[in-house]
Amino acid sequence: MKEQLESLLAAAVATLQQQGTLAADVQPRIQLDRPRDKSHGDFATNLALMLAKPAKMNPRALAEAMIAALPENNLVAKTEIAGPGFINFTISQQQLIDQLEHAYQDEHAGIQAAAQAKTVVIDYSSPNLAKEMHVGHLRSAIIGDAVSRVEEVLGHKVVRQNHVGDWGTQFGMLLAHMEELDNADLDMELSNLETFYKAAKKRFDESEAFAARARELVVALQSGEPKCRALWQQFIDVSLSHCQEVYDRLGVKLTRADVMAESAYNDDLPQVVADLKEQGLLVEDQGAQCVFLDEFKNKDGESLPVIVQKSGGGYLYATTDLAAVRYRQNVLKGDHLMYFVDQRQGLHFQQIFTLARKAGFAREDLQMDHYGFGTVMGKDGRPYKSRDGGVTKLADLLDEAEKRALELVQQKNTQLTSDEQAHVAKVVGISSVKYADLSKNRTSDYIFDWDTMLSFEGNTAPYLLYAYTRVNSVFGKAGVDPSSITAPFILNDEREIALANILVRFNEVVHTVADKAMPHFLCGYLYDVAGAFSSFYEACPILQGDDQDVRQSRLKLAALTAKTLRQGLELLGIPTLEKM
Ligand code: ARG
Repeated sequence: MKEQLESLLAAAVATLQQQGTLAADVQPRIQLDRPRDKSHGDFATNLALMLAKPAKMNPRALAEAMIAALPENNLVAKTEIAGPGFINFTISQQQLIDQLEHAYQDEHAGIQAAAQAKTVVIDYSSPNLAKEMHVGHLRSAIIGDAVSRVEEVLGHKVVRQNHVGDWGTQFGMLLAHMEELDNADLDMELSNLETFYKAAKKRFDESEAFAARARELVVALQSGEPKCRALWQQFIDVSLSHCQEVYDRLGVKLTRADVMAESAYNDDLPQVVADLKEQGLLVEDQGAQCVFLDEFKNKDGESLPVIVQKSGGGYLYATTDLAAVRYRQNVLKGDHLMYFVDQRQGLHFQQIFTLARKAGFAREDLQMDHYGFGTVMGKDGRPYKSRDGGVTKLADLLDEAEKRALELVQQKNTQLTSDEQAHVAKVVGISSVKYADLSKNRTSDYIFDWDTMLSFEGNTAPYLLYAYTRVNSVFGKAGVDPSSITAPFILNDEREIALANILVRFNEVVHTVADKAMPHFLCGYLYDVAGAFSSFYEACPILQGDDQDVRQSRLKLAALTAKTLRQGLELLGIPTLEKM
């Protein structure tokens, strides 16, 4: 609807340009807002106000001319000039009904594919494998996953890349510790990588002989010594299967096939450095190979170099990322490279993108974006910690979520069998953690708080999951299949119209989420849908009236509500429940 209205306005501007009312070279950005107050119509624009000044016209007169120049259409039922020159549009009810019908029939509740399908390479989760996944890994995994689902539903080809850190000096220490243990102990110790890492670190700090062996093993690993490689591979396999367990529990779509580890780029790194050299971009600084880019300076005007090779010959995080850009463009054929990585790596990615273009690793039209996110905080205003003050393993956090949800469900959902309660608790627990995160603005820090996220009130997973089951319960009572209602929509009550207006916005919201890589817009929207349904449900009895046409129409509105909630939650990676 919004796009249609935008093109009508664009056509009106073009007509005014032909008539000479507006200068031919203006290319206005058409902004359409949705007024909060419905008496101001469904859409409002300040277009006339913006263009009046350069055209030396009275804004209200220009607004009038603009309305007169709107092409003939059956979208707009009414226009009105408000205040100094805003134009308010009321959309025709037939249009609303047509859109509802379309969404009702549509597989994705009205989501339209993007105008142009692209290949989108999405880097997300990407933990370092030396340790177990912890709270700091939550956001990348679930935000990246939600955006991947949204890109897919818009018809793009999504290639997921789990750029795990499986290389670097800390592996020497882990391998040295592995060597010391016999097989039985080793299996046991590797079952908790957090404690394994701590034990290895302790040995490293305490024993000079151990530390020397660790350093030897780094060299052996890097030179591809087979025994050392095998040991390393064993560790990596264990660590990746820990990750996979977390992904499966979280409903994050990553699999082993999406892993493209740092080490996979090793063979290409000398070439990356050679190519930079050939381009004349390298400078040697204290034995290290660096690139100085004018764009990146600190407050004191000192350059912030990108180091691509250490004085000892070793390569760095940045070198691997440069190789990865090339791979993603040339082999994966990406048009858009998306990175869901902590905000604090912002400078790193800006440097990589700038350098990749300078070096000709990235085509001019390759789109590269780092989507940073804020930190998960504890109630004390510091990064979230476990009770013992250490980092919280993600697996433990999810256990606790399920445990807390089970307590709630056992109190609230007494009509369920204990098997059903267990299932509901799993879904509610995990979804609460995910939703609490996804519903916050990606770029902000947020406070991790069990009570808020598990609340049945407010913009939370339990509220939405419950709202969904409530909508769904109507069809059973009515004995109606929600997917095959043939009667037309009839909109009389203002609550029906309000719900309808929200439902037809779904497409617009999903596109916004894709454009900004910000899932919280979708959360806010679904919360509005549930709220509008609730007002409608209270004011407009679905099953009690005598009028069959009204009853069918209301059931159909409920059916589209359920479908929109289910589709929306699925895009967030949250499954729905049939009952709770
Ligand atoms: N492993 C890195 C870390 O834990 C994140 C990697 C993100 N992706 C990338 N291509 N650099 O900080």
